[in-house]
Amino acid sequence: MERQREAWSGRSVFILAAIGSAVGLGNIWRFPATAYENGGGAFIIPYLFALLTAGIPFLFLDYALGHKFRGSPPLAFRRLHKRAETIGWWQVGIAFVIGTYYAVIVAWAIRYFFFSFNEAWGDDPANFFSNDFLNQNSEANVAFDFVPGVAFPLVVVWVLTLAVLIFGVQKGIGATARLFVPLLIVLFAILVVRALFLEGSAAGLDAFFRPNWSTLSDPTVWIAAYGQIFFSLSIAFGIMLTYSSYLGRKTDLTRSGLVVAFSNSSFEILAGIGVFATLGYMANISGVAVNEVVSDGIGLAFIAFPAIISSMPGGPLFGILFFGALVLAGFTSMISIVQVVVAAIEDKFDIGRVPAVLGVGGVSAVISMLLFPTVTGLNVLDVVDNFANNIGLVAAALVAIVVIAWVLRRLTSLEDHLNSLSSFKLGFAWRLFIGVITPAALAYMLIDETIERIQDGYGNLPGGLVNTFGWGAQILVIVLAVLLANVRWRRTHNPENFEPTKAGTRV
Ligand code: ALA
Repeated sequence: MERQREAWSGRSVFILAAIGSAVGLGNIWRFPATAYENGGGAFIIPYLFALLTAGIPFLFLDYALGHKFRGSPPLAFRRLHKRAETIGWWQVGIAFVIGTYYAVIVAWAIRYFFFSFNEAWGDDPANFFSNDFLNQNSEANVAFDFVPGVAFPLVVVWVLTLAVLIFGVQKGIGATARLFVPLLIVLFAILVVRALFLEGSAAGLDAFFRPNWSTLSDPTVWIAAYGQIFFSLSIAFGIMLTYSSYLGRKTDLTRSGLVVAFSNSSFEILAGIGVFATLGYMANISGVAVNEVVSDGIGLAFIAFPAIISSMPGGPLFGILFFGALVLAGFTSMISIVQVVVAAIEDKFDIGRVPAVLGVGGVSAVISMLLFPTVTGLNVLDVVDNFANNIGLVAAALVAIVVIAWVLRRLTSLEDHLNSLSSFKLGFAWRLFIGVITPAALAYMLIDETIERIQDGYGNLPGGLVNTFGWGAQILVIVLAVLLANVRWRRTHNPENFEPTKAGTRV
């Protein structure tokens, strides 16, 4: 007998949970700076192109696999084809890696939420962030001396994440999304309105939206757009696939996907508006151009924003809203990332939810605690994040598409599955986007990024660190994926005795 699979109570809670997953640190922490660095207003073109030709088509593919084969990535891929299971474990491995450091950024945001009350970063937020708060040791390659100020909130993040997951798909993840997603939207809307009323906000928006057309001929801008879309939509590392496996048999999949994708992008643009309006204010009071106050994702959230908060009237409240939004957005994504690993272990080893959550969570939390709340944790995080997103995720997505579309030739049957349930019908365009344009773009990204990393390393970081936590972690994920795919399935969950979800009439 197959174990009864958990289920969402309805389509709306699934959509909220999927939005909760998609809207995360990527939207608030990464998008505004990425857009700005890659041509400002002109970035909207590659961004929309990547969204329409890769993001949404891949989201539909994830939904089709999860829903038709009713499983976490290893089970769904195994049911697709006996020898495809490794791809599923590869996706799970990437989610595992991302989870270990994603929790750390949520932990920082929790501390900064409390720092906002009295602007604890003082007059020099950059120094406060790297030295007082993170205690970073610029000399060492990797050192494991603990930083309690990060370790403590990190424990809180892991305990809360596992607590939600123990309650299960509907009562845990669904209930959290129902509460947190609307709250996040309200908090963020207040923040953006406040930002728009700051003096100088127009200059910030001008910097954000003013197109720099010349960037469109630069391939790195297109690569950045694709990378942003995959991370931001939570696609190709098992999340949307897993979430859709808990849907009822008759659910409009494509329409749900469109709602999720457009909500995510709307939130992303809104975050860009809020962040740049605020940077415009900072530029105005410091008498400099907006581009002088912009920095990368980490610097933007944890250095530039604290400086701005200190300089504005009612700053603490603004800080509480900003870091509160970052915590909420990050937390609902964090639970979706860990759920991928939990679901895979439950499926493969046929064990209950609680031992799966405690086992998976325990291992992830220990790795996360050992590597990141340390005096070199920031560099390790930077490397792991870069390689997981720009190499691991891209390679896994490329292999998945090539196998599904070209080796197994299953796009048409997956399209039939989606069309039989959904009001928004797919056709030739979907097969073209997912089968040709997306893999071409991903292959280009992967080759370009790999050559650059091999030739130039990563930033100024020591080769040993980049090899271990960049290449090493990604190779280890693939080795473990192959090994796990060769472990026998428990009889009760034998993937061979399976009838795919039948295409039915939509209700
Ligand atoms: N989709 C999540 C984010 O944007 C992972 O942060």
